[in-house]
Amino acid sequence: MLESLGIIKNPLVRSMAAAVTVGSVITLSAAVIIGVTNAKAKSAYQFGVYSSLFGIASGAVFGLVYTNKASGNKPTSDLKSLDSSVWKDWRNFVVVRKVKESEEITSFYLQPEDKREITNFQSGQFLTIKLDIPGQDKPVIRTYSLSDYPENCEYYRLSIKREPAPNGLDVMAGIASNFMHDRIQEGSVIPVKPPNGKFILDVQKSIPAVLISNGVGITPMISMAKACTLLNPKRPIWFVHGARDGKFHAFRDEVTKLAEQNPNLNVHFCYSRPTPEDTAKYHSSGYIDATLIKELVPQEAEYFLCGSPSFMQSIMQGLKESGIPDSRVFFESFSKPMKSQSEKQTPSTTRDEKFAEIVFAKSGKTLTWQPSDGTILEFAEANDINPPFSCRVGVCGTCMCKIHEGVVAYQEEPTATTDKGSVLICISQPGTAKLVLDI
Ligand SMILES: Cc1cc2nc3c(=O)[nH]c(=O)nc-3n(C[C@H](O)[C@H](O)[C@H](O)COP(=O)(O)OP(=O)(O)OC[C@H]3O[C@@H](n4cnc5c(N)ncnc54)[C@H](O)[C@@H]3O)c2cc1C
Ligand code: FES
Repeated sequence: MLESLGIIKNPLVRSMAAAVTVGSVITLSAAVIIGVTNAKAKSAYQFGVYSSLFGIASGAVFGLVYTNKASGNKPTSDLKSLDSSVWKDWRNFVVVRKVKESEEITSFYLQPEDKREITNFQSGQFLTIKLDIPGQDKPVIRTYSLSDYPENCEYYRLSIKREPAPNGLDVMAGIASNFMHDRIQEGSVIPVKPPNGKFILDVQKSIPAVLISNGVGITPMISMAKACTLLNPKRPIWFVHGARDGKFHAFRDEVTKLAEQNPNLNVHFCYSRPTPEDTAKYHSSGYIDATLIKELVPQEAEYFLCGSPSFMQSIMQGLKESGIPDSRVFFESFSKPMKSQSEKQTPSTTRDEKFAEIVFAKSGKTLTWQPSDGTILEFAEANDINPPFSCRVGVCGTCMCKIHEGVVAYQEEPTATTDKGSVLICISQPGTAKLVLDI
């Protein structure tokens, strides 16, 4: 009965229902007592009336104050907002603002098309988006770091660099980034997966954090610096960023303004090719290296790196040489380092037998793989099987697929969390003579 009462949300209705129920029970009990005792006195009837009135009044008061702790611990509206803010697969988002941040980086502000709440995220995480691009035979899936950390999470911001074709190569310029810059406008709708990723700043720690980036690697760093400023401004932060010059330097004013609000946020901008217009806009010229980092932050710290592969490789090497343990260095790769022809030798496998049979169950293909075929993803693509992918470096989880038989050998430790019985095919090769994959 109490549970039924707890379901009634309107306190007045609940009070009336409780009054009727308790009043009826007490009136009936009083009638039974009077009947059993066979009392004929006027006082017996008074007892009956007073008992009924008492029952109705106490029921009404009880109904008014009662809330079912078990089922009513969350107001319905809270439950709804929880359901709508956390979603699993794709959810449509509308581009509500598009802002040019530098010569090559543009920001896109996204709000859910259903206008319901969105889940908060941890600074450093990314979103995965899906684009229907004319000329592409399947949707293009890409991953972009969340580049903001607003006080109230009412939008997501992605800041995307237009990827040109690499110098000297006659290939197409970046498919998704150029489409975003050229075709996506305010009002465009894009399917988005929930925030994800393990490149996260634990803002509650007190050890100084050194955020080191170049180019578009600045995106997760702004989010981290903003989150720390909002949630734990006591934590010392060094924001060290490298750009070619002022024109290619996104978010200069935004970061400078943030440092004005947070005395524990120290900023250092390093330009490799400053122009005369950049005078007083940067702190050093040249390239960021471990020596500069150690000069700026001589004390113990945690280091967060994001930028071009060569930039990260050289800084990680320099930090290692200056005695910084790996456990203090965290990084996010946006892409695989380009390998020269000489580096593209046969990758090693854990198997003695170098050939493997891969059954792509959904595609109905059984194929023989050999080490020169590369990762399972590369092998699948070469054979006209096109599983979804985004980062191709084991970070985003887009290429995850179920494995029915056999095991894979990872070429590097996956960063994305994999479901039980699933593998990431962008960074793995067969680890047994036979593999059956749900692709
Ligand atoms: C966790 C994570 C976070 C990220 N965050 C951001 C972010 O905040 N901002 C951002 O801008 N990017 C970010 N990225 C990178 C982003 O996901 C895309 O990789 C990037 O936008 C390039 O995608 P694209 O489709 O434009 O280029 P693609 O079409 O994938 O091409 C990439 C490059 O390869 C070149 N190329 C094409 N064909 C060939 C070929 N045959 N041989 C050699 N080169 C070729 C293209 O010209 C281009 O330069 C992130 C990546 C990850 C994994
Ligand atoms: S494509 Fe991102 S983890 Fe494989």
